[in-house]
Amino acid sequence: MVFHKLKDWQLHRRTLEHREANGTVGFVPTMGALHQGHRSLLERARQENDHVVLSIFVNPTQFNNPNDFAKYPSTLESDLKIAEEAGVDFVILPTREDIYPDDYRYRVMETTFSKSLCGAHRPGHFDGVLTIVMKLFGLVRPHRAYFGQKDYQQLELIRGMTKSFYLNLEIVPCPTLRETDGLAMSSRNLRLTPAQRKNAPQIARLLKSSLLENKTTDWVKAELSKSGFLVDYVEDVAVGQPPETRRFVAASLGEIRLIDNLSPSEAKDLEV
Ligand code: PAF
Repeated sequence: MVFHKLKDWQLHRRTLEHREANGTVGFVPTMGALHQGHRSLLERARQENDHVVLSIFVNPTQFNNPNDFAKYPSTLESDLKIAEEAGVDFVILPTREDIYPDDYRYRVMETTFSKSLCGAHRPGHFDGVLTIVMKLFGLVRPHRAYFGQKDYQQLELIRGMTKSFYLNLEIVPCPTLRETDGLAMSSRNLRLTPAQRKNAPQIARLLKSSLLENKTTDWVKAELSKSGFLVDYVEDVAVGQPPETRRFVAASLGEIRLIDNLSPSEAKDLEV
């Protein structure tokens, strides 16, 4: 069932009100342009819950670059097909007016981790992400919400927000899905030119080889620059519980900014 009007969804959500009596709600929030990575989140949500909700909303407040927002891919027809194939029960398609009737006067912020890595290069990005996710959690009231580890910093911040605000739901981290050449799946990959697409897996290759061969983050930066990337950062950060050091990269090919991250144990198994 597809909800174009938020009011209709809100009415419908009430029918699932008696949580225990009516089973669990699994939620996958997205900005559309769904790929196999999203499909795997939806399939996992399907396996683990009685009801599965997908939201598609290209959230303007998390784009610090208006051009990136304007060019964000939109593939609604194929998104709905993937949703149906993955067994999604409800798709909600809120509008900007639905989500920001307050014109973004109220927002959720984190003051520390959100200022590093992507946050240092995309001011305000994580305020936008945490705010939309908090709003969607309020609208969907899921028991479980599914997020990919490709956006690991986002996942950590959402986990922290959920704990900090005593939100009554489980955040389920899901492994990064990759193309056969190692490129982490992302909606933005659709915007790469054929030459950029060929070059893009270099990020995963360098993450893997640097971790296995004990090469520094500076070495990765230099290699990426040699391959034509404009590098935002390559950093090692201890994240998760118990803390584990992961290597994080953000680098652009032309207008397209790509991110990825890997732990030493994942590096051993990564096929690139
Ligand atoms: O990861 C995304 O697609 C977005 O950041 C999210 C979580 C749907 C919030 O807009």
